[in-house]
Amino acid sequence: MKVTLKVFRYNPETDQRPRYDVFHLEAEPNDRVLDLLEKVKAELDGSLSYRRSCAHGICGSDAMRINGRNRLACKTLVKDVGTTIVVEPILGLPVLKDLIVDMEPFFESYRKVMPWFINTDPPPEKERLQSPEERERFDDTTKCILCAACTTSCPVFWADGSYFGPAAIVNAHRFIFDSRDQAAAERLAILAQEEGVWRCRTSFNCTEACPREIQITKAIAEVKRAILTGRLD
Ligand code: SF4
Ligand code: F3S
Ligand code: FES
Repeated sequence: MKVTLKVFRYNPETDQRPRYDVFHLEAEPNDRVLDLLEKVKAELDGSLSYRRSCAHGICGSDAMRINGRNRLACKTLVKDVGTTIVVEPILGLPVLKDLIVDMEPFFESYRKVMPWFINTDPPPEKERLQSPEERERFDDTTKCILCAACTTSCPVFWADGSYFGPAAIVNAHRFIFDSRDQAAAERLAILAQEEGVWRCRTSFNCTEACPREIQITKAIAEVKRAILTGRLD
């Protein structure tokens, strides 16, 4: 099949404004959008810039807007998006070049919620035990691959980048509801601050954008409830 690929191009160091380059390509229905970008880079324009690593939906590096919706290029099949495909960088983060954005503001918020295991008890002889039910409590939010598709589809984040954003809250949730962790109160206090969960307007864009199908809006609601009630059940 013939495909028209329209790609956002911008180098802030040399270009006055962004432009779109159009490439006409031959593709298979089961080709991924990433395959098309690889073809352009290898055969037509080596200066095209984008991030990718695993090419299998695991590393989270190739989130981009494809026909107006945040997706992973390596998980998006040509047959699912049609024969005219517009590819643009995710919104709300500064463009460094073409499809590459500066992820530092995203990771700054992520670090603020202390997304690591905290337990000051001496380590037991074997592992720290947890029941299947206790593990289930935060199973969904362990699936995050930090692709930023959620945060950069959130209208609150677009309006004010100081909002921690859904990805940071998802990763806080993963530890807040872990029965082995001891810093839930501290994380909830951080998320109760001005930039935290109360900024969320329940718009659900994040949940719709997540390539891991994490129930993000539900996780945010659980964090809000824990702040209000002081309970983690
Ligand atoms: Fe990506 Fe989903 Fe994690 Fe957000 S919650 S960063 S969309 S994997
Ligand atoms: Fe934004 Fe998701 Fe809340 S899109 S407003 S964080 S439900
Ligand atoms: Fe790793 Fe797409 S390249 S998730």
